[in-house]
Amino acid sequence: MKIQDNYDEQFIIYSDKYEASRVVADEMCNVIEEIGLAGGLPVLGLATGATPEIIYKYLIEAYQKGKSFAKTICFNLDEYYPIQKENPNSFYYSMYKQLFNYIDIPDNNIHIPHIGTLDTPLHDFCKDYENKINQVGGIDLQILGIGENGHIAFNEPGSDFNSLTRLVDLDEVTRKNAAADFGGVSAVPNQGITMGIQSILQAKKIILLAFGENKGRIMNRLLYEPITPDLPASFLKLHSNCQFVLDEACAKNIKYMDIT
Ligand code: PGA
Repeated sequence: MKIQDNYDEQFIIYSDKYEASRVVADEMCNVIEEIGLAGGLPVLGLATGATPEIIYKYLIEAYQKGKSFAKTICFNLDEYYPIQKENPNSFYYSMYKQLFNYIDIPDNNIHIPHIGTLDTPLHDFCKDYENKINQVGGIDLQILGIGENGHIAFNEPGSDFNSLTRLVDLDEVTRKNAAADFGGVSAVPNQGITMGIQSILQAKKIILLAFGENKGRIMNRLLYEPITPDLPASFLKLHSNCQFVLDEACAKNIKYMDIT
């Protein structure tokens, strides 16, 4: 893969996160429609966290207006390890609460790298997750957030370009940012299961979203710094079909960027 000459043109700024989320939700619906019309099964890569919440509201709205997700296949990026499905902080729980409970996607089409606390062979689980993505022809559209430390999914700083789905140690920044939800940093799991950098880069199209002032600093780094494992999101500059979608609150903290 080579660095894309025009990746900076792929920074797209919307006035606020609602407008941006509307555009991305529409794009997801278009992918579902186009692939469905061609007789295929659309495959979406989904993220958790605050960033995609509004997108999921719009997808539920689309369902209520007649859109069907019955033939859509979803893969989620990551999950804490260990954690119970019933824990409201698990990504499993939040995906059902924010989206899956309200649309017609069958449970069989939902994939979340949730392994629970059982003594399951992790290596086999991770390998199987990759196989499942490949068996359905890869991810058509991958949605991503970004951590303040530059992580994508739980690919923390230091992640390998060739990494696939695996168990990782969570970065201190990631654990601190999750502390409020868990009622203290000591309650945040130390590890997570995550799709790797390669698993993500294999998606046909990627949209990374960054909303709010707090994400300005990392998006500034992403725009100007070279590709390095210290900033895992920088690997996305190698992808030929990746957009970076920002709201103005985030973009105004990017140096030299003209948002008028
Ligand atoms: P956020 O998390 O959407 O809650 O900001 C993004 C991330 O850490 O990847």
